[in-house]
Amino acid sequence: MKQLMLEITGNKEISEGFYRMRLESAYLAANSKPGQFVEVKCSSGPDPLLRRPLGIHRVVKGGIELLYKIIGRGTGLIARMKPGDTLDVIGPLGNGFDLSPHRGADILVAGGHGVAPLVALADSLVNSVGRIVDREKRGIHVFIGAKTAKHILCAKDFGKLGCDVHVATEDGSGGSKGLITNSLAAFLNTIHYPLCTTIYACGPTGMLKAVAGIAMEKHIPCQVSLEERMACGVGVCLGCPVKVTRSPGHQVTGFEYKMVCKDGPVFNAEDIAW
Ligand SMILES: Cc1cc2nc3c(=O)[nH]c(=O)nc-3n(C[C@H](O)[C@H](O)[C@H](O)COP(=O)(O)OP(=O)(O)OC[C@H]3O[C@@H](n4cnc5c(N)ncnc54)[C@H](O)[C@@H]3O)c2cc1C
Ligand code: FES
Repeated sequence: MKQLMLEITGNKEISEGFYRMRLESAYLAANSKPGQFVEVKCSSGPDPLLRRPLGIHRVVKGGIELLYKIIGRGTGLIARMKPGDTLDVIGPLGNGFDLSPHRGADILVAGGHGVAPLVALADSLVNSVGRIVDREKRGIHVFIGAKTAKHILCAKDFGKLGCDVHVATEDGSGGSKGLITNSLAAFLNTIHYPLCTTIYACGPTGMLKAVAGIAMEKHIPCQVSLEERMACGVGVCLGCPVKVTRSPGHQVTGFEYKMVCKDGPVFNAEDIAW
């Protein structure tokens, strides 16, 4: 992890309120894992004081991309930055997804801007792990949930990687109508998924909890990337706790708190005290 002053080489609105930014950094390109994040300084002055965490959306030649939604002051300021500007970034931070159980099918579930780090994950599963995509047996199935059709992000990116893409919108304006977790549950009820299937999910807590429930019911290992408000981003301020079960030797003996920034943001779904 390093503090880096990076050149912005792209920062475009790709859908209403969502931006994709490209940063030049051979260091981050070489050292980032899917599911890790960076802490971004949103202005050159003291306001806002705290950096904002953003997931690594994609590793590209000589740099990385971020995909972010304008939520408040910090992301609003980042959206105004132009190619040629410099961004002060600390990263890569956090643990990232565990790609070791990649022999079976992979199921990626995204809600809202939670889709951002899952593109880097799909890219790694397809390219770095050297898998041969066999849609029937060992494919990558991506489930994207959004409010409306115009909020569906990255479906084409996943398609280009050869993933099998499922979309659901709350108002039915794109894909199936309803929650993406309903589409996931229906899919798992109808297909014969291979052993070693893994679910990876990123999105709002309610969605992650529902995905964790489905995964547990089906006995499918599930990794969730959590979001918490953050300050230091490196486990020092104790500002981003999550309650997890303490289970030495797989026997639950109580609860403890872990820091989302340092111990996560990716956790095994069954370890979280939902
Ligand atoms: C590990 C991690 C990775 C992330 N990756 C991405 C990403 O790739 N793309 C992306 O768009 N966003 C991502 N986020 C969320 C992003 O960090 C927040 O949207 C951002 O910090 C908001 O800053 P702001 O200054 O614009 O909003 P603020 O002015 O700080 O907040 C505006 C409002 O939103 C609420 N809020 C802000 N952040 C959060 C939060 N994390 N949880 C709950 N409520 C919140 C505040 O309470 C406030 O009411 C990630 C968060 C984490 C922890
Ligand atoms: S943000 Fe400081 S401990 Fe996580």
